[in-house]
Amino acid sequence: MTKGNAPTKADFVVVANRLPVDLERLEDGTQRWKHSPGGLVTALEPFLRARQGAWVGWPGVPDVDVEPFTDGEMQLYPVRLSSAEFRQYYEGFSNATLWPLYHDVVVPPVFDRSWWEAYRRVNQRFAEAAADVSAEGATVWIQDYQLQLVPALLRELRPDLRIGFFLHIPFPPVELFMQLPWRTEIVRGLLGADLVGFHRPGGAQNFMWLARRLAGFEPSRAQVGVRSRPGVVQVGDRAVRVGAFPISIASGELDQLARSKEVQQRAKAIRSELGNPRKIMLGVDRLDYTKGIDVRLNAMYELLSEGHATVEDVAMIQVATPSRERVEHYKQMREDIERKVGSINGEFGRVGHPAVHYLHTSVDRKDLVAFYCAADAMIVTPVRDGMNLVCKEYVACRSDLGGSLVLSEFAGAAAELTSALLVNPHDLDGVKDSMLAALNIDQAEGRRRMRALRRQVLTHDVDRWARSFLEALGASPTS
Ligand code: ADP
Ligand code: G6P
Repeated sequence: MTKGNAPTKADFVVVANRLPVDLERLEDGTQRWKHSPGGLVTALEPFLRARQGAWVGWPGVPDVDVEPFTDGEMQLYPVRLSSAEFRQYYEGFSNATLWPLYHDVVVPPVFDRSWWEAYRRVNQRFAEAAADVSAEGATVWIQDYQLQLVPALLRELRPDLRIGFFLHIPFPPVELFMQLPWRTEIVRGLLGADLVGFHRPGGAQNFMWLARRLAGFEPSRAQVGVRSRPGVVQVGDRAVRVGAFPISIASGELDQLARSKEVQQRAKAIRSELGNPRKIMLGVDRLDYTKGIDVRLNAMYELLSEGHATVEDVAMIQVATPSRERVEHYKQMREDIERKVGSINGEFGRVGHPAVHYLHTSVDRKDLVAFYCAADAMIVTPVRDGMNLVCKEYVACRSDLGGSLVLSEFAGAAAELTSALLVNPHDLDGVKDSMLAALNIDQAEGRRRMRALRRQVLTHDVDRWARSFLEALGASPTS
């Protein structure tokens, strides 16, 4: 990564809680930058590099001041968070209030007034940073649930800007959203944008209902389409558009990488290191309670105990990136998952053949792609997920038309990837049946499904997503 001083004002600015790179402090006192975790960065980074924009975000560790710098074609503008803000705004309001609330209350959200104050304060800081780096009339694209107040705060500071907002996680049913003590402030914050984008039309529809109910602004009545027919909420003399833009990945690049000799050899090596099992089953997730890692472990346990699979026959790999490690529900879930892995391995593992190969780590891009190429069945079972990019990555990597995808109906991607083996993650028998079906799928049937999945993923890439959003915002993506 080459770094230099950031130039001044930018015409195109992304604002996200995290920069695309994270500062890591090593034990010897030195520090280095590494790739930030999660789907938001995976999706936006390639787009912004090509567009030569600016990115405003937090460098991933509290209490550090980092000067603006350039990384390749991107200009990065770090925003400082103190330790208290990290606790209250990031771990607290963002990830122990909004995250569970927006993911169907999978765990109970915590409502804490001091966290809300910190959220407001930090959103103000992000708005000021965005106002500082934006050129006259620039387009500013604000990202995700951590920054929902920024659109209105930024509009106050800089009415000349064109402001877009995109939510990367599900927007909840109105009954759940109504639990939030600060619901009106959030809706008003988002309405500061010119365009508010969601993954699914249902999220857009819910938001428009709330705009009327909580803020008294009249929304349009027609159904919102996918990448088409955005709704409109009239806010004084401003027409705020509200649309659905399902996010995706740089599928062409991934397809190329997966075809490379190096990756193909690595995939073969993975299979042989596992003792050449008949089938390899794979899970890849941030270690998050929404991802349903427990669901697939429970299903694997039953498949083994009922004799539908043996450890010599089927190797299961679960790669889990550490995430939000000090937040209570994440700690509990990690303990739960690791206890489950231990007990499955204790009961069914043989020397040289654990039932579940569990890696609590982030793997580099080439290794990840090699895992995708090696896997006969990819198991993606979130109980709720805004989109889920992992399943799209798997599909992009399978130009051989091999491999089967088991996908939760509760991932946004299920609406597009209808040729996957779709499952209800709450239905353990259904998950088991689909995992077995994926392992034993007839070759022609598997190829037919994968071909259809690839058609979808390769023609709907992240560039198309960004273009459709920016066109609806009235900001040509090539300008
Ligand atoms: P989320 O944004 O909730 O983490 P997504 O599936 O949308 O979920 O995106 C996750 C991104 O993080 C994908 O690009 C995926 O490749 C990457 N990722 C997830 N787990 C790992 C891992 N263990 N190692 C490397 N990358 C990972
Ligand atoms: C999801 C969220 C992103 C977030 C990412 C990683 O993709 O939508 O906003 O950046 O998870 O989570 P983290 O808390 O580590 O930033």
